[in-house]
Amino acid sequence: MYEKIQETASWLKERMTTSPKTAIILGTGLGQLASEITDSYEFSYADIPNFPVSTVEGHAGKLIFGKLGGKDIVAMEGRFHFYEGYSMKEVTFPERIMYELGIKTLFVSNASGGMNPSFKIGDLMIINDHINFFPEHPLHGPNFPTGPRFPDMHEAYDHQLIKLADEIAQEKGIEVKHGVYVGVQGPTFETPAEYRMYRILGGDAVGMSTVPEVIVARHCGIKVFGISVITDLGGFDVPVEVSHEEVQKAANEAQPRMTEIFREIIRRSE
Ligand code: HPA
Repeated sequence: MYEKIQETASWLKERMTTSPKTAIILGTGLGQLASEITDSYEFSYADIPNFPVSTVEGHAGKLIFGKLGGKDIVAMEGRFHFYEGYSMKEVTFPERIMYELGIKTLFVSNASGGMNPSFKIGDLMIINDHINFFPEHPLHGPNFPTGPRFPDMHEAYDHQLIKLADEIAQEKGIEVKHGVYVGVQGPTFETPAEYRMYRILGGDAVGMSTVPEVIVARHCGIKVFGISVITDLGGFDVPVEVSHEEVQKAANEAQPRMTEIFREIIRRSE
């Protein structure tokens, strides 16, 4: 594993002409931010040694380097989900590479199902915290030297970045919600009873990604800021049917607001 990480990081470093300190993971239907990256150059996952290849519709599968908000960044268009059959080590391989490339801050985004009754479709939820419901832990196995055996998780999502996001949202008149993201394995969407259960357990939104990536990023000392786009609702009143197409459509409509917040945080952070 360690050799693979080194090999991939060296391959990228040999080809990189910028030194990003910021990485962005674009979730389902949230790839539009990529078109706002200037001075860009990119690598298809298929061309990067040891990189898994994304299989889901709406996930292009490339690493895009360039500028956003006046800073060097790298964006992952397409991520690896546990439900696709990847191991947790594969799901979080990109965060290991980010660490090797010198990334200090990670922006994560995802599409998720809203369970908080005050949420509506298209809302942006700033992730304050998460609950890990994946059946396997990304740090299972011998400890990696990037962090401690028992990593602290009391501030998985950086409080200062959350505060800055709130200021930006208010200034720009963008409505944002806050909440706890529940990470589940999927690929089924939840039954009405499951949505209710995750709500009772303290969740505001539920989705099939993000948590493993955030855990590994934190283990590497990378700061994290996350936004969930609420693409469907579950768990209260009448159960509504969910489809991947609807999720993509709602995400697509919300992405300009999400991009604006990401861009401004990047512009205003050091
Ligand atoms: N549940 C799980 N994952 C999701 C959902 C959901 O309702 N919406 C988008 N991703």
